[in-house]
Amino acid sequence: MNHLAIRKGNVAVVTGAAAGIGFAIAQRLAKEGMDVVLFDLDAKALQSASEMITADFPDVKALALLGDVTSEHDLHSLYEKSCEFGKVSLLINNAATIKGAGPWDAPSKWRALMDVNFWSVLTLQRLFVETMFFQDGHAAIVNLGSKEGITTRTGNAAYSVSKAAIRVLTEQLAHELREKVGDRVTAHLLIPGYTYTPMNFPNAAPGSEKPSAPWTADQVADRLIEDLARGQFYIFCEDNETPWELDQRRMQWAADDLIFKRPALSRWHKDYADGFASYVADVSSGNAE
Ligand SMILES: NC(=O)c1ccc[n+]([C@@H]2O[C@H](COP(=O)([O-])OP(=O)(O)OC[C@H]3O[C@@H](n4cnc5c(N)ncnc54)[C@H](O)[C@@H]3O)[C@@H](O)[C@H]2O)c1
Repeated sequence: MNHLAIRKGNVAVVTGAAAGIGFAIAQRLAKEGMDVVLFDLDAKALQSASEMITADFPDVKALALLGDVTSEHDLHSLYEKSCEFGKVSLLINNAATIKGAGPWDAPSKWRALMDVNFWSVLTLQRLFVETMFFQDGHAAIVNLGSKEGITTRTGNAAYSVSKAAIRVLTEQLAHELREKVGDRVTAHLLIPGYTYTPMNFPNAAPGSEKPSAPWTADQVADRLIEDLARGQFYIFCEDNETPWELDQRRMQWAADDLIFKRPALSRWHKDYADGFASYVADVSSGNAE
């Protein structure tokens, strides 16, 4: 049985729904009989996403809304139009950017990323959660995290910070909801692994063959539905080069940095390279990145 928020005829709102994981989730929810609100700033991709869903699932209503998650006006309009469209029982905060910044880059670069990856999520969950409290029935909010917000790999500090913030925000949301309404309104953190989407493959021609390492966005969407049904908060996805056991070791190593007072991010420290490699050797498929 599905999570009770996934109900035929109810509405799911998905940001960044025109491509990648957001589109796959919107399609999957339409397959479950939910009406879907697709929100994105890419007009062409949005139109074709909406047309595909309407063609594949003629019994389902799809509302395509063009907008930018960094605009308060667009987010309020998304909220109002979604509530007019039907009973919103699922919010998927999916839109994000990897256009990031390093630790001492200009604050303007940081703000631009945090506006997309953090503030929009906070704004939308604030708008929808009240509605979810006061309407009948179950509801859920899913925020998109990343392993980069847990083991915080190097190279894009702003992205890692944003995803770490989303993790903590969603944990706090889940706790507060549990205290207030039990399991009637729940929050979940979806943590994709390496996934074949425009974010990772911006120049891939439509229909081009997927490399072997990443999962498809459809696999991520399937995992979301399965783990929501199990009532899981952390909805973890492996990928074809990173089994769950390797993710577990990486998370344990990161936590052990604090416990054993090792240098920050010791996984990427040259003096710890051998130690880390031997720590994951028996579960690694050869990629200990
Ligand atoms: N792809 C991965 O390997 C991966 C891994 C971990 C986490 N994630 C997370 O999963 C989510 C989806 O990632 P994806 O790979 O499908 O991304 P993507 O870049 O392929 O697609 C994102 C969609 O969001 C839209 N979007 C971007 N900025 C927007 C804005 N300001 N307003 C409205 N729409 C906007 C884009 O137009 C696009 O349609 C993100 O939160 C990402 O951080 C992805």
